[in-house]
Amino acid sequence: MLQCQALMMYEGLMNTQKKLIAGNWKMNGNLADAKALAEALGSPTQADVCVCPPYLHLGVVASAKSVAIALGAQDCSLKDNGAFTGEISAPMLKDAGCAYVILGHSERRQYHAESNAQVAEKAKKAHAADLVTIICVGETEAERVSGIQNKIVTTQLAESIPSTANAQNLVIAYEPVWAIGTGKTATLDDIKDMHAVIRGFLKEKLDNSDSIRILYGGSVKADNAKEILAAPNVDGALVGGASLKADQFLTIINAA
Ligand code: PGA
Repeated sequence: MLQCQALMMYEGLMNTQKKLIAGNWKMNGNLADAKALAEALGSPTQADVCVCPPYLHLGVVASAKSVAIALGAQDCSLKDNGAFTGEISAPMLKDAGCAYVILGHSERRQYHAESNAQVAEKAKKAHAADLVTIICVGETEAERVSGIQNKIVTTQLAESIPSTANAQNLVIAYEPVWAIGTGKTATLDDIKDMHAVIRGFLKEKLDNSDSIRILYGGSVKADNAKEILAAPNVDGALVGGASLKADQFLTIINAA
């Protein structure tokens, strides 16, 4: 019942700003690949574009990309500096030219046991360093089969978004875990329903929430991007595999 009300209330909302197409390169490629890919993307104007290479490739991408493309990282530390071997902090990312950082990606949650509380703590550090956080949420296949996906996602939102978040520094990425890298995309109805739920949640918690971008992620490809990006409350995409091929990523950008 509540969900129906949320859908009716938020289904019609359209964000008038440009879509954000973010490429999550994950742990792929070498320096030469990163440079070539950044150069091949040129200066897209159709959408706001951000690429998130591995940490070691940030420098080369910062030099090779056009100013039309923003730089992002895939994670940051819970700490700003000090004796934390192997960590990279939010201020370091800012210093390296990043504007965005992805936090709470399901691969971080799954392989590094990251909790919502840790995601919120990292987001606080990122906001203090003047980075825009792309906070990822999404249910597993088992959770969707059990019909508890809305509860899972709203709990993740409630616990992962810190008090420092606002309409300028927050982007949400809805990525159903079962759709990431699997070739399975959520149906348009699944996407519409969940994005409406997320919009409803943001509306209750944050000022100017209509301008907070909600990205869809999970097997977004050149051939399905157009219809996904046209769905209500879908303000962009977080793209994994297809962001590693310049022609495919550009097709997705042009679909925005
Ligand atoms: P995919 O990854 O596009 O390869 O499914 C999306 C993501 O993990 O952000």
